[in-house]
This record gives sequence, C-alpha cells and structure tokens, in this order.
Amino acid sequence: MKFFIDTANLKEIDEARSLGVLDGVTTNPSLISKESVSNKKEIHQHYISICKRLKNNENVSAEVISTNYTDMIQEGEELAFLHPKIVVKIPMIKDGIKAIKYFYNKKIKTNCTLIFSTGQALLAAKAGASYVSPFIGRLDDVSYNGLNLIREIKNVYENYDIKTKILAASIRHSLHIIECSKIGVYAVTSPINVIYSLLNHPLTDIGLEKFIKDFNKKIK
Ligand code: G3P
Repeated sequence: MKFFIDTANLKEIDEARSLGVLDGVTTNPSLISKESVSNKKEIHQHYISICKRLKNNENVSAEVISTNYTDMIQEGEELAFLHPKIVVKIPMIKDGIKAIKYFYNKKIKTNCTLIFSTGQALLAAKAGASYVSPFIGRLDDVSYNGLNLIREIKNVYENYDIKTKILAASIRHSLHIIECSKIGVYAVTSPINVIYSLLNHPLTDIGLEKFIKDFNKKIK
C-alpha cells in the first residue's frame, strides 16, 4: 500500500521523505491556505517546490478552486502544465465529472475528491478519474462507517476491473491506515502525525527499555 502525505507543508513532506515512507502528496485548498502563499503565482511556485521533492513515479494532487466546467478546465490545465508530477484534483460535482472526462481525453491525470458514496466513486471512474479520494474520517464524523465505503468501492471496482485507484483520504488515526491495508486499497493519504502513530506500542517501549537495562547491567 502506498503512503501519501496529506499536506502542503514542505517541512512535513521532507520529514516523511527522511522517514523513508513517502510515495506521494495530496493537498487541498484548506491545506494550501495554511502555507505562506497569498496569490496564484506563489501557490504555483509552492506546487513546483513540492514537485521538486518528489521522485520519478511520485505525484502531488493540486486542487482546482473553480466549480464551473470552463474555469475548471483553464485552472486544471494551468496546474497540469506547471509540472509533470501534478495530478489535477477535481471536486465530485457535475461540472467536475465533465472536466475529468476532458482531462482523461487529454491524458492529464485527475484525482476526484470529496467522495462520500459508491455511486460517486463509480461515476468518477466512468469519467476516467485516475484516482478517487473517499473521505473516511468525515463520514465517521457524521456517524457513517467510512471504512465500509472503502470496502464497497473496492468491491465495485473489482467487479468491472476498473483501473481508477482508491486513494483513501481523511485519515484520522492508525486504525484507518491498518484497516485500509487489510481492504487492499492502492494508497492512503494521511497527516504525518498519523503515520508516526503507527510506530506506537507500549510493549515495544517496555521491551526496549528492558533490553538496554539488561545489557548495561552486564556489559561495561
Ligand atoms: O485532502 C482531503 C482529505 O484528506 C481531508 O482530510 O482530515 O480534512 O477530513 P480531513
């Protein structure tokens, strides 16, 4: 399973890279707004800085702000032409589906975001999305089981050998990542602190402390 990091922060991307587990990056407008960028030029420059941190087969999803077809096409093309590692992130709305089809025909990769149902995932795949981003945590927040959605989309895609990749998003804790790996999704995209939380087990800490204590008792 691929580990994407859900951030626009260059330090966090570098941290995930130095941990040795980075396979790609996803951003969204809220994440971009947390960085020191205040206009389109700076945002584009920021995306290029992210791209420069990525290896050959890795990519970064950059989301359009527009919500109508014509503007989405213009904005998406601008993003795609910035760097070959950019995947255009498009919201799951009617014009978004049309835009995904347009980009598919142009061989520009897309990530259809804000997926909360299997029907939406099916439609995005039909239009030719390279990735879909179902939001697990936000579904859990409203008392739906986000992981069940991931299972259902995976089953449906397998029924028809659909090539669209599931990039499980809105990851809130380590169990989301573990369960996604059991389901067999292509990738999870998560904040760096959730990746770090995979490290934790009390028996590891107790065991390590004992190993070192035993060793130091005997060996000078
Ligand atoms: O980038 C999309 C998604 O991962 C957002 O997550 O935590 O804001 O629901 P969250």
